[in-house]
Amino acid sequence: MRSHLCGHIRDSHIGEDVSLCGWVHRRRDHGGVIFLDVRDYTGVVQVVYDPDTEEAFALADQVRNEFVIRIEGYVRARDDEAINPKMATGMIEVLGKKLTILNRSETPPFQLDEHSSAGEDVRLRNRAIDLRRPEMQDRLRLRSRVSHLVRQFLEERDFVDIETPILTKATPEGARDYLVPSRVHPGNFYALPQSPQIFKQLLMMSGFDRYYQIARCFRDEDLRADRQPEFTQIDLEMSFVDQAEVMEITESLIRGLFTEVLDVDLGEIPSLSWREAMHRFGSDRPDLRFGLEFVDIGDLVGEVEFKVFSGPANDDKSRVVALRLPRGDRLSRRNLDDLTKFVGIYGARGLAYIRVNSLDHGMEGLQSPILKFLPEDVVNKILERCGAEVNDVIFFGADKASVVNDALGALRNKLAEDLDLYEKPWSSCWVTDFPMFEESDDGSISAVHHPFTKPLGSIEDMESDPLAALSHSYDIVINGHEVGGGSIRVHDPDEQKATFRVLKLSDNEANVKFGFLLDALKYGAPPHGGLAIGLDRLVMLLSGTHAIRDVIAFPKTQTATCLLTSAPSEIDSEQLKELGITVKVSKENEGE
Ligand code: AMO
Ligand code: AMP
Repeated sequence: MRSHLCGHIRDSHIGEDVSLCGWVHRRRDHGGVIFLDVRDYTGVVQVVYDPDTEEAFALADQVRNEFVIRIEGYVRARDDEAINPKMATGMIEVLGKKLTILNRSETPPFQLDEHSSAGEDVRLRNRAIDLRRPEMQDRLRLRSRVSHLVRQFLEERDFVDIETPILTKATPEGARDYLVPSRVHPGNFYALPQSPQIFKQLLMMSGFDRYYQIARCFRDEDLRADRQPEFTQIDLEMSFVDQAEVMEITESLIRGLFTEVLDVDLGEIPSLSWREAMHRFGSDRPDLRFGLEFVDIGDLVGEVEFKVFSGPANDDKSRVVALRLPRGDRLSRRNLDDLTKFVGIYGARGLAYIRVNSLDHGMEGLQSPILKFLPEDVVNKILERCGAEVNDVIFFGADKASVVNDALGALRNKLAEDLDLYEKPWSSCWVTDFPMFEESDDGSISAVHHPFTKPLGSIEDMESDPLAALSHSYDIVINGHEVGGGSIRVHDPDEQKATFRVLKLSDNEANVKFGFLLDALKYGAPPHGGLAIGLDRLVMLLSGTHAIRDVIAFPKTQTATCLLTSAPSEIDSEQLKELGITVKVSKENEGE
């Protein structure tokens, strides 16, 4: 149908006859001459119709935005004053001779310019049109290129691409499962995989040595800007490797992608232990593009009369932390009130602060609602430990360690974003040695990574004090996003059973849930380990957007619905009957 692509025409084509197909991006009527910007996936070219070609001119007069057309014409140089250096095809135009309307279009629900001001729900409801926007085209093409580069990298290194089941049994990664009812086995359900974890371990036991898959995963969990209920992992597993080897190959893959795609050298990727990351930044995915490190001051405020500080200072599950913001004088009283509300979201009961107006006038030079509760020598020690300077604001968090970490960790990121405190565009790190287990509020114990992770110490130590046990695990973090995570696995069936015991799974329950893994472990399982990178998150970072939905063709909303297809939706009674299912939606479940 076409001889050329719209965005490819250059001055080297001047004088040639061309035929082009595409969408009418814009139509302008310039007193007797009609200009059509015609767009295909390669870009836009200007086509001009004048009244000499009567029939084509009449059609050009009829077309509207987003009509699909085929044109024939010849390429000519633009007049000097009409040259547009911002367009790749800005040196030339096509003088249209013929025009065929291939399809008409109603007025689109929103303008298709690059930065559409249409609300996201309108865009998602009309996704086919939204995806026409060059910005969205670029992102999805980038995603395709990244997948291709990943495959190339891994194939060159002997990784084998193996598909694992989607209709399967629960694979625990800490979220709820999506379930699929079985018609043939009424009352029984498949689970959609939260990850291919167990299957990739079985493939190591089968001797494949190196596995990868660009795998879809499903998790029913609370959604955030960088989380979707179904998402894609670059999933890998390797035999006869230690932690350093898995980290090395991952680093080389990610480093290569940043160089290839963005021409960015990620530089040295430092490793922090989980404990250090929590201590210094209150987060296991610290954003290291800026400073703002936590300063513990619990030892300075144990004796003060201000109970808000002295209480947590004397409790070993709590911490008292100062966060020094240079040039905090940029923040108004109102900003400080807003920040207090902000940390409230994370459970903080307040946000104490000191404004440092002067360092030469003792307490007089400081401004704070808490000074009256603190002795001068304590205040001085706090200022000294923080390295306070004039015009700083020093914030304080005092509570259970988890609350302080969450609240001041989030405050740290918010201040950096609001005040643009970034010192560099990219910063990555490894976070290693996560705890094996964590305790929920109800006292139950769950695996921090997943229950197949190898403990750092002995099995005996793990069983005697599970909450103190660390693991052979590692996450790679870029600009505060957890981009990938993995671990060295347990390959000894007795060790695996010990982990299940800590998780309070009886032998019987362990067999019902994971018997197929325990069985395979009995017959010569090699030492193995691996990792999975969140492809969506990685592409989100590479394409410079803040929303994971921008790099997924058909994403779900924050409430896990697809606005395009209206999934999830009710199903008809016939289908339910076939499945042997009766639906009883209780009020409290509705809309959850
Ligand atoms: P993990 O649960 O850490 O590990 O997941 C690996 C990576 O997947 C991405 N990710 C997500 N991306 C978008 N939406 C989500 N809901 C979501 N959840 C996770 C993150 C994360 O780093 N089986 C293990 C890996 C292993 O041990 O080899 C696993 O799934 O970028
Ligand atoms: P109050 O005594 O509750 O009025 O608190 C005095 C100051 O301490 C206020 O600025 C509060 O925002 C702050 N504050 C209260 N609780 C905490 C807390 N747990 N951590 C940090 N600051 C707090």
